[in-house]
Amino acid sequence: MKTLFEPTSLNGLALQNRVVMAPLTRNRADAVGVPRPFVHDYYTQRAGAGLIISEGTQPSFAGQGYCRTPGIHTPEQIAAWKRVTAGVHARGAKMFMQLMHCGRIAHPLNRQIPDAPVAPSAVQPAGQMWTDQSQLQDFPTPRAFETAELAGVIDEFVAASRNAIAAGFDGVELHAANGYLLNQFLASNSNQRTDAYGGSVSGRVRFVVEAVEAVAGAIGAARTGIRVSPGHMFNDLVDAQPLETHRALLDALPTAKMAYVHVMLPDAFSPQLNNAGDPQALIPALRPHVKGALIVAGNLTAASAQAMLDSGLIQLAVFGRPFIANPDLVERMKTGAALAAPRADLFYTAGPEGYSDYPALTA
Ligand SMILES: Cc1cc2nc3c(=O)[nH]c(=O)nc-3n(C[C@H](O)[C@H](O)[C@H](O)COP(=O)(O)O)c2cc1C
Repeated sequence: MKTLFEPTSLNGLALQNRVVMAPLTRNRADAVGVPRPFVHDYYTQRAGAGLIISEGTQPSFAGQGYCRTPGIHTPEQIAAWKRVTAGVHARGAKMFMQLMHCGRIAHPLNRQIPDAPVAPSAVQPAGQMWTDQSQLQDFPTPRAFETAELAGVIDEFVAASRNAIAAGFDGVELHAANGYLLNQFLASNSNQRTDAYGGSVSGRVRFVVEAVEAVAGAIGAARTGIRVSPGHMFNDLVDAQPLETHRALLDALPTAKMAYVHVMLPDAFSPQLNNAGDPQALIPALRPHVKGALIVAGNLTAASAQAMLDSGLIQLAVFGRPFIANPDLVERMKTGAALAAPRADLFYTAGPEGYSDYPALTA
């Protein structure tokens, strides 16, 4: 029996256990996207995990949407991340970087460049986002990418992936979930393009497939993962046929050679579901389309994660919010200790409070 706490290997990458820390945006970078020194402490404290996936990190200035999110496109950012990966590796965990290009989920006040946010189509998302200067603001209408610009965006993902490897990461995860740029290409309400990158399912998956292939070509498929969230309506994303879209996407990706496919169950953030159906039925529905490792996040507990591992459907279990207030989550789950509750009011604030100051049980 494979337990959550036993070592495993992910396409050649040795992991000390099957527990993964989910990507968690925490907005602790400085004004130019450099992780602050206590970001090192936060990740190192959580390196009892087998694998840590970093918070969403922009591959370029153009990819930034939120305030104080980190990047991986300047020498200062790379140097700061090097210290983080060294701390994590010293405790035995492996670390992937999540590359997040926000596309239309962006506000000019949060960005370091004057250019308007860019997206597959000029469709304004419903809703608002936080800005440090003017608090909550409506999402603006993005500019639509010209077809000729798209190769340059893929080049940014490739350069960022090489930078992540240079910074000591064991691989990268392309963020194609939760309504950000890659997800905006997949979904029918955010992608209304009439060129080869829109329209039919094969058109809407094209950009994501090209991005994954380019990154895998640059750093190796075994170091490339992808995150998807079929049926999740976060950030005003509605796909008419999310299961059909995601099956086509997975079938077009080299999943046997990739590090993993990471699925975020759609009820983790919001109870809304469009026509993807029952979230518990999602994993069995997607499993035949993933030829390599499948990893899953969304309201897991030690018991439900173990049950999913036992079923053979998944290879690793991913925990998000539990890691925020429990730096020693693996140890607590192993011993059945109580879990501390995170302070949601400090999820996205700037300092170490509610971030790197949660104690371990032994502290
Ligand atoms: C504060 C916070 C920040 C998050 N940031 C990201 C992110 O940067 N990238 C991402 O893919 N998901 C992000 N998520 C989603 C988590 O990765 C995870 O899928 C979700 O919290 C469900 O897992 P859980 O029930 O174990 O928390 C975030 C969630 C929270 C609570």
